[in-house]
Amino acid sequence: MSDFSDTAKLLIDDKEIELNVYTGVEGDRAIDVTSLYKDHKLTTYDPSLGNTAICRSSITYIDGERGVLRYRGIPIEQFNRSKPNFIEVAWALIFGRLPDHEELGYFHDALTDNELLHEGLRNQFMALPVDAPPMAILSAMISMMACYHKEFLQLEDETSLLGAAARLISKVRTIAAFTHRRSAGLPFIYPDPNLRYCANFLHMMFSLPYKQFEVSEEMEDALNLVLILHADHEQNCSASAVRVVCSAQANLFASCSAGVNALWGPLHGGANVKVMEMLEMIYRGGHRPEECIAAAKDKNNQFRLFGFGHRVYRNYDPRAKILKTACDRLFSKLKHKDPLLDVARKLEELALRDPYFIERKLYPNVDFYSGILLRAMGIPTNMFTVMFAIGRLPGWIAQWKEQHFADGAKIIRPRQLYVGNPKSDYIEIEKR
Ligand code: CMC
Repeated sequence: MSDFSDTAKLLIDDKEIELNVYTGVEGDRAIDVTSLYKDHKLTTYDPSLGNTAICRSSITYIDGERGVLRYRGIPIEQFNRSKPNFIEVAWALIFGRLPDHEELGYFHDALTDNELLHEGLRNQFMALPVDAPPMAILSAMISMMACYHKEFLQLEDETSLLGAAARLISKVRTIAAFTHRRSAGLPFIYPDPNLRYCANFLHMMFSLPYKQFEVSEEMEDALNLVLILHADHEQNCSASAVRVVCSAQANLFASCSAGVNALWGPLHGGANVKVMEMLEMIYRGGHRPEECIAAAKDKNNQFRLFGFGHRVYRNYDPRAKILKTACDRLFSKLKHKDPLLDVARKLEELALRDPYFIERKLYPNVDFYSGILLRAMGIPTNMFTVMFAIGRLPGWIAQWKEQHFADGAKIIRPRQLYVGNPKSDYIEIEKR
């Protein structure tokens, strides 16, 4: 980003205030209001931060009007065509460019060396209720990693960051698979160092002690693609949670755990579970697709069409486009079909020709088709948001790094417009 290139004028109380305007590399402009309060006792009002750039970032670029998404400048579609490995993308997001052979090899080895959970951490895991929500388990386990990896609580150089990142990215997969195994009453399957990242995860999820799960190339590719497409999405709710926690100089584990908690919400990553519940309900005859669309439009009804709409995209989410094609590709190679894919297609068709969705520019988002792919892999619905978290972890780490090392970074501390009681006196309980 250039330094300020222009100025804007704000007229208030017969005063003219001149504000700097910054321009990003893609031409986006942002008015700098940082000194408004200090100099003029004025704040800006933007309750959901929908119009506020909270940082300068060079990780991910989105053009919501045109449906463009790029990681470190690379259009997301290129990750579909040339099939890079998820860990290569993770490295690029965290370190700013694609790794060379040596860097990728080193990262791969670091992931392999750190697949296992510390036995103490595993014992803590065993103390959690078997039927606890997987996202609660994940956030607790990431938080508890701070107890077992104290050497990574202070990260002041790239080498220690790489060590912490490798532990998080590797262990999160083991935690996820163990969570599933334990809830299903199945014995744990330990990671196999000879397998690649995605195949290793599927092995831990589905192998049996007496029978190795055969990971097909299609499934491994589909999982790799799902994880890559979730890997970062600039200043979304969970990334912002990570940044806010980081800005207090909190450690990487505490910050990523906050990211997991934010992601859990149904308006964010939890939407992938809601989409699947919605599709299943329609398939089982609970409601017709037309009724779902009508309920989503009804302002007296809380129901929303999950997997539709986005704060930034006013166009088809490019990730949803790729995932939809990936569903077609995968099912053309599988013997079975998934009737929920037909339900999803029908819902999309109805929504995209409905004036309500057209006027509001509501299109399928990443969560609309991702669940159908995960289901084809045999991943249970209650694990879907955990899968999103595995994919998003490199993004959170990259956002944490950028925030932590930013020049002049300060604690993130918004202001408010107070609308409560004016000054009033305490009244003793007997007199109330
Ligand atoms: N179904 C029905 N109406 C919708 C939907 C939807 N899915 N999404 C937005 N709208 C309506 C909304 O009611 C509002 O209507 P009106 O102007 O009449 O008040 C208008 O569209 C604008 O919506 P908004 O709520 O102001 O938009 P937002 O930017 O605050 O919310 C969103 C974005 C993603 C939370 C929202 O679109 C939504 O709830 N979608 C369903 C949940 C979902 O799929 N979430 C996953 C998002 S993508 C992955 C991720 O980030 O995790």
